[in-house]
Amino acid sequence: MKFAVMTGGGDCPGMNAFIRAVVRTALNIRPQTSVWGVLDGWRGLMENRYRRLNKLDVAGISSAGGTILGTVRFADLAKDSDIQETVARNLDDAGFDYLLVCGGNGSLRAAAVIEDILRREKLRTRILVCPGSIDNDVCNMHGSSIGFYSAIDKSLEMLEWIRDTASAHRRVYLIRSMGRNSAFLPLFAGIASGAEYVIRPHEQVNFERMASMISERDRDSRIIVSEAYPKSLDEIKSILEQIFEQRNVWREIRSVDMSYFQRGGTAATTDILRASWLGYRMVKDAFDRCESGYYSAFYTGHMSDPLPLAVAADDSQTSYADIPPEFIEFALALR
Ligand code: F6P
Repeated sequence: MKFAVMTGGGDCPGMNAFIRAVVRTALNIRPQTSVWGVLDGWRGLMENRYRRLNKLDVAGISSAGGTILGTVRFADLAKDSDIQETVARNLDDAGFDYLLVCGGNGSLRAAAVIEDILRREKLRTRILVCPGSIDNDVCNMHGSSIGFYSAIDKSLEMLEWIRDTASAHRRVYLIRSMGRNSAFLPLFAGIASGAEYVIRPHEQVNFERMASMISERDRDSRIIVSEAYPKSLDEIKSILEQIFEQRNVWREIRSVDMSYFQRGGTAATTDILRASWLGYRMVKDAFDRCESGYYSAFYTGHMSDPLPLAVAADDSQTSYADIPPEFIEFALALR
């Protein structure tokens, strides 16, 4: 059997563990198998750029952030049917039986479209996908993505550092968090670190109330701002400064952006283990000649059946449109 393994979308810790698990499982269970790493994600597939991987190539990479295969944003893939056709043909021409992908919702949607072409044209390759994204916005009614908990760990560490200096100076810090259109990463990071407020992407913020809450605090206040919230940190700062001035309250405000730092560094144990489990399961299922599918990331050892790619890629069936109210209640109860 011939496998291609690929990482797509924004990199995240855990992708390397996935690659290692695919290579090791395939070559240990059936040594005659070949595994090829696709370089630079979907663009690499369009350009036929692969590298054969052996067991030593993936030694010692499980906990490392990023992805040894690289990944590229390839927006044209979603719009251009010629590119989609080329990718499907390339997979078949290269003789791949399976393409195993760890990626975000762009990768999931691309996989569903290309699977459709592969089936329609009776081409050989089947595609299996698992979620890799710090945003936790891929099929998030079904488990949580690889990389999400690593990014929370990184955020927590940064938020604790900021607390030290905020508390020393009695300051308010406005802290931008990644997460794209989703509030999962900022909210969970905020809950973990006990931040005073998390501004969600589509929230109507009551800044008067926020200012009162800050005034009641003795020393530090950390306000996490979701990536997709439309106001800039400077705009939020000047709104709060005006309110404090009107109330004759003295508060210094600073801002900081955690964004790309949240995506790097060592993987959380749960991401290493869940990515390894999914890589292992996907190879085993491929050896059993499974049809294509989406593998949710629950706990290590979880055995849910894969979802059809077309179902998984339909956000209205598989992803929360916004953060579920129970998580907001949970966060508020701990404030
Ligand atoms: O999807 C992961 C993510 O880190 C998002 O949180 C963010 O919006 C985006 O990728 C940034 O992407 P890029 O690396 O292309 O700037």
